[in-house]
Amino acid sequence: MKAAVIHTVGEPPRYDDFVAPTPRDDEVLVHVSAASITNIARMRAAGTHYSRREELPAVAGIDGVGRTEDGTRVYFGGPRAPYGTMAEVSLSPRAWIAPVPDALDDATAAALPNAGISAWLSLSHTAGLRSGESVLVLGATGVTGRLAVQAAKQQGAGRVVAAGRDTTSLARLTELGADATIKLDAPDIDLAAEFANAAEGGFDVVIDYLWGAPTEALIRSVSRGDLTPATSRTRLVQVGEMAGPAISLSAAALRSSGLEIVGNGTGSMPGPEVLRAAFTQVMASAARGELVIDTEAVPLSQVTDAWSRDAKGTRLVLVP
Ligand SMILES: NC(=O)c1ccc[n+]([C@@H]2O[C@H](COP(=O)([O-])OP(=O)(O)OC[C@H]3O[C@@H](n4cnc5c(N)ncnc54)[C@H](OP(=O)(O)O)[C@@H]3O)[C@@H](O)[C@H]2O)c1
Repeated sequence: MKAAVIHTVGEPPRYDDFVAPTPRDDEVLVHVSAASITNIARMRAAGTHYSRREELPAVAGIDGVGRTEDGTRVYFGGPRAPYGTMAEVSLSPRAWIAPVPDALDDATAAALPNAGISAWLSLSHTAGLRSGESVLVLGATGVTGRLAVQAAKQQGAGRVVAAGRDTTSLARLTELGADATIKLDAPDIDLAAEFANAAEGGFDVVIDYLWGAPTEALIRSVSRGDLTPATSRTRLVQVGEMAGPAISLSAAALRSSGLEIVGNGTGSMPGPEVLRAAFTQVMASAARGELVIDTEAVPLSQVTDAWSRDAKGTRLVLVP
């Protein structure tokens, strides 16, 4: 079969031949229709994700949409190494298989779960967002950030502020429901002051796809320089690291502020029932047109070119 094959850690996958998988008893064979190029797929191929794979050559891709042997259209993922979802044929543990609403095309159904469930659960499960609370989405111009802005509104957030660099994407976020935007790379911007002024009393929740310098500015904005007790708390949910894998965090920043930092990833996964409910909710919202994700279909044969393309808030989806 043809597949997007990783030969060398750190190099993009190549369109190549790979032996087709044979499913075990607890697995299902899937004829793939679409698999999206997510940042986790990129990071695993680059060897920079904490769940990186060791065995090469291997097929790229962690999830997708396809048809099982009986023709059922399903979302699937988590194929056993060295298999991946960016191939003509893949396999999936039975627990990962879920039906897809007819109203969603293959590209949308393949692109939505990774970003959409993460955005949904970062807010509802990890941050424990309550009705009326203010939310800052740091890195809102990316695919997942855009969904987080929409999900925050759907979950009853009050003020939602979107921060990013791309002017066109920031304008789109206003259309998608953001109450205000912050342009992170505006000339002479004092980011800490911008964050401090963007929500009265400080943000209740920050969903952070950037880390690095923007997060350091956010932490400066909640740090205090006097002995007045902090009257509010900010729950910062660490989700991505587009601006850097590490920050400098002073002890005083934590002691002087109401800052709580938690991560959203495999270390904070809810139980399977909550996960499945989030999947159903996100897919149903998209089917009703309430959650919007922009996608672009790309032939699997063009995987190498597509791999490092910055699609500016649009998810590239490989089609075998
Ligand atoms: N843990 C999880 O559950 C989970 C799930 C999904 C995603 N993620 C992570 O979340 C992050 C975002 O994912 P995504 O799907 O939204 O990615 P994406 O669609 O590729 O968007 C990434 C965005 O990051 C921004 N960016 C890149 N470098 C930046 C920098 N130096 N400073 C400021 N902004 C920068 C870019 O925005 P501009 O160029 O417009 O500024 C870009 O739109 C990734 O790190 C991804 O791995 C984690």
